[in-house]
Amino acid sequence: MRISPSILSVYNKGYEGVLKLLESVNADYLHVDVMDNIFVPNYTFDQEFVKTLKKKTSLILDVHLMIINPDEDYLKYVNAGADIVTFHYEATSNPLELIRKIKASGAKVGVSIKPNTDVTVLDPYLSEIDLVLVMSVEPGFGGQKFMMNAVEKIAYLENIRNEKKYHFLIEVDGGINNETSELVKKAGCDIIVVGSYLMNSTSIVDTYNELKAK
Ligand code: DX5
Ligand code: ZN
Repeated sequence: MRISPSILSVYNKGYEGVLKLLESVNADYLHVDVMDNIFVPNYTFDQEFVKTLKKKTSLILDVHLMIINPDEDYLKYVNAGADIVTFHYEATSNPLELIRKIKASGAKVGVSIKPNTDVTVLDPYLSEIDLVLVMSVEPGFGGQKFMMNAVEKIAYLENIRNEKKYHFLIEVDGGINNETSELVKKAGCDIIVVGSYLMNSTSIVDTYNELKAK
């Protein structure tokens, strides 16, 4: 599986060193959690920090927008250097229009669903998107426990992808560690977002490589 290390737990303390370590292991992506304190009860940063990251690293920026009105704000993140822009299905009334706008802007487009959102709501969009981000915790904070219903959602997505020959990638976010990563891999997941398990480990390099070798 590919790994998208989440900068959430280190962005406000000495993250530059972490970027260098992630570059040294050729991390597949860098997961960047944007929170507005409205869609989720936490504020992180806005497009200015994405711009800063773009200057500091060559890692692919996998930007997860946990904000209301992504329809209005997506372009700020594309212009700041986001390579993948993932918005929440629950945050917009017109997902198809936003999917098309993001694609037209040149970025890859992802759609995310919260734990209580039925995965089948995504059916009409699966042929057009680059990525589905399945939340395996309530969005807002790192360090939470993995919710098992994500495994069924991943299996559903993997099945429909094979059946209809779609091309989207399946990414999972929240509570990923050495055990839950195996569960999601078996279900057909392509990308794991890893926050606290990686960033709080004694060696980011060793833990990254161990997860990658699974
Ligand atoms: C949570 C964020 C996650 C978070 C994951 O709302 O979307 O990306 O960084 O952190 P862990 O891996 O600690 O659950
Ligand atoms: Zn995230």
